[in-house]
Amino acid sequence: MMLSGKAKVAGVMGWPVGHSRSPRLHGHWLERYRIDGAYVPLSVSPDRADVAIRALPALGFRGCNVTVPHKEVAAATVDVMDATARRAGAVNTIVVGADGMLTGSNTDGFGFLENLRDGAAGWQAETGPAVVIGAGGASRAIVAALLDAGAPEVRLTNRTRERAEVLAAEIGGAVTVVDWVSRETALDSAALVVNTTTQGMHGEPSLDLRLDALPRTAVVTDIVYTPLMTPLLHDAHARGNRIVDGLGMLLHQARPGFAAWFGTEPVVDEDLRRAVLAG
Ligand code: ATR
Repeated sequence: MMLSGKAKVAGVMGWPVGHSRSPRLHGHWLERYRIDGAYVPLSVSPDRADVAIRALPALGFRGCNVTVPHKEVAAATVDVMDATARRAGAVNTIVVGADGMLTGSNTDGFGFLENLRDGAAGWQAETGPAVVIGAGGASRAIVAALLDAGAPEVRLTNRTRERAEVLAAEIGGAVTVVDWVSRETALDSAALVVNTTTQGMHGEPSLDLRLDALPRTAVVTDIVYTPLMTPLLHDAHARGNRIVDGLGMLLHQARPGFAAWFGTEPVVDEDLRRAVLAG
């Protein structure tokens, strides 16, 4: 669609940003809803991230997404953080208010839960213990979202145990840290397994996890979406567990930002998945 001088502008700030699928994602929605708006990649080096974020109101931006490695700087730079950003300790979505105030939120947990609800009909956090593998930035938002959604217990396991302990202490609540060497015992009676590590991504080894102890009723999901069918999801599917791939988390986490910047609640569907995968 042709832009007018009144076009609403947003974007994604990262370094590097060239691999980001967000411009394609938001671009698809902008076309579908025939919105006079643009969503652009913003290649911003780490030493200038705070200046770039503070410049958003002056440039007339409605806001932006923030990706690696700027999520923590964004948390330190915005004027207000909502509860999701405070809990995650990181901001991935900034909205510029009418008064120029910058509000930061973190929609990764929302995207994660919506993807599960979408991909595993009837799934509820309350059903039973969740096993979360990995303790990086994505894990933090996911553990917090699972607890907030009512998971009775989160069993957190990470190659470097200390990182899991720090995360558990900071988030609080029913998080049990499980030794990496004992990770397979954590699968016993679990209702959900989530891989938040990079294992299973193209070019990386598979996640080293035998699923023998996992109930067949459990849902298995991965935040890796290149490939969509990770070795973990393949194994889980082969033994009869329901699986949810990681692309939907990316798509759903984008909804709140799009709605705030462009004024339309967007829908995640097959067309969108195809458009984002085509990149
Ligand atoms: P984020 O961007 O989410 O903060 P990160 O810091 O790169 O991610 O963390 C990636 C996760 O993958 C971590 O949990 C990491 O484990 P460590 O804390 O021990 O580094 C995990 N990870 C990376 N390589 C791994 C491997 N070979 N085996 C197991 N876990 C691995």
